[in-house]
Amino acid sequence: MAIVKKSNFDELKENLVILTTEFKNRKKYGLSNNETEYIKQQIKAEKKSITVNQLKRLVFVVLVDNKVEQNKRKEKLRKSGCTLAAILNDAKKTSVGITAETAHAEDSLACAEGMALGNYQFILYKTKKTKNTLATILINGKVNDASISELNINTEAVCMARDLVNEPVNSLNATELSNRFKKMGTAAGFKVEVYNKAKITQLKMGGLLSVNKGSVDPPTFTIMEYKPKNAKNKKPYVLVGKGVTYDTGGLSLKPTPSSMDMMKCDMAGAAAVGATMFAIAKAKLNVHVIGLVPATDNRPGFNAFAPGDVIKMFDGSTVEMLNSDAEGRMILGDALAFAKKYKPELVIDLATLTGAAAAAIGIQGIVSMGNADEKTTNKLKQSGHNTHERLAEFPFWEEYDELIKSDIADMKNLGGPQAGAITAGRFLVKFTGYPYIHLDIAGPAFLTAPNGYQPKGGTGIGVRLLFDFFKNN
Ligand code: BES
Ligand code: ZN
Ligand code: ZN
Repeated sequence: MAIVKKSNFDELKENLVILTTEFKNRKKYGLSNNETEYIKQQIKAEKKSITVNQLKRLVFVVLVDNKVEQNKRKEKLRKSGCTLAAILNDAKKTSVGITAETAHAEDSLACAEGMALGNYQFILYKTKKTKNTLATILINGKVNDASISELNINTEAVCMARDLVNEPVNSLNATELSNRFKKMGTAAGFKVEVYNKAKITQLKMGGLLSVNKGSVDPPTFTIMEYKPKNAKNKKPYVLVGKGVTYDTGGLSLKPTPSSMDMMKCDMAGAAAVGATMFAIAKAKLNVHVIGLVPATDNRPGFNAFAPGDVIKMFDGSTVEMLNSDAEGRMILGDALAFAKKYKPELVIDLATLTGAAAAAIGIQGIVSMGNADEKTTNKLKQSGHNTHERLAEFPFWEEYDELIKSDIADMKNLGGPQAGAITAGRFLVKFTGYPYIHLDIAGPAFLTAPNGYQPKGGTGIGVRLLFDFFKNN
């Protein structure tokens, strides 16, 4: 999708979205008296979005409530944009213009964002492809070029993350995931280095290697770095993404079909990290960011790690592995310990880590916790509101550590029946030693039904959140 600033598109001929707070006789837009009458009736009937089907084009009137708080208003507009994109595609339209009469420049951007994100399709494996026709959004008005360019990058990156998540494991194993990161690095301008199994073994990344033992495919550890000359931060930000390309649960096998069907999504954290690197590099933000992705599938084959095993992690600490379905924390523990060498300003990890997080808040938000100071945490929360990828902060009290004490090792990888998302986070924080925020995206990463402009399947959650965070800081 191309979002283009074009102040002089033909408002009489183009498919048109009019964002307005009230509707008067809009002869200006080529609406007849009858059509205007119809629109007025619809407004009386309290319709918020009105469609006029003219002979050669569609005209939509979207009523915007100026009194609604900015982020709520933006989210409504994203959703309207998504709905309108579907109508335009149904009518086989290829372009649409957005004209905003409202006071806020960001209104047309939000509408365009919803259109572009809602226009996403994953049709790679369809032999008969019905491709959406909508390809161009024209924006008319007060928006500046930089924000249009950032919006294009933003939506492109989200779609990239979705593509990665939607790829099944038979086409995207750890090696392929790393290859895709390399391509993204070349396209956007950031460095990508991939450690293979020999290097991972040499580094003694015991957590990552333990999960990989039941697999035929080797693990990878990808290091991405974007370091512009004008970077404002002395110490880098580090993003860590869970890259489990498929989670069967290992020997602690998940019951099939209900819980395994969507487990190709277990690298959604990794996808979000790669796509965020893509976005910040392409937008040339002046921030130094490193992305780390430990990747493997989790299978019960061969010499699969077995409940009861004691694993020596990258940092030398020991873990009694009591449930091979709690594999995410094993690979992330190594990556978080590896991150120490960068003396980071802040580390944020994204992981489809626990069913408990999804059970607690569902698809509507991201479970967050950590030890970063309040100011930093609030900045990320603010980005959550700006992008509607909202954070729900869980307690992070050290008393929870009781639940992951092991009799024979430093920790066990399994907590009790309660507070599963938190004990997972408490496990992870033991590998840090720097300001840290853990984001559990198990709920919103992959949907079984569309939710507004988030499609069924991979959502790309985390990309818009982090891009906004780095843009604003
Ligand atoms: N990948 C799953 C978590 C998950 C669940 C992601 C639903 C997306 C949707 C994770 O590896 C897992 O299986 N976690 C276990 C941990 C438990 C064994 C301590 C869980 O949440 O049940
Ligand atoms: Zn698991
Ligand atoms: Zn998992």
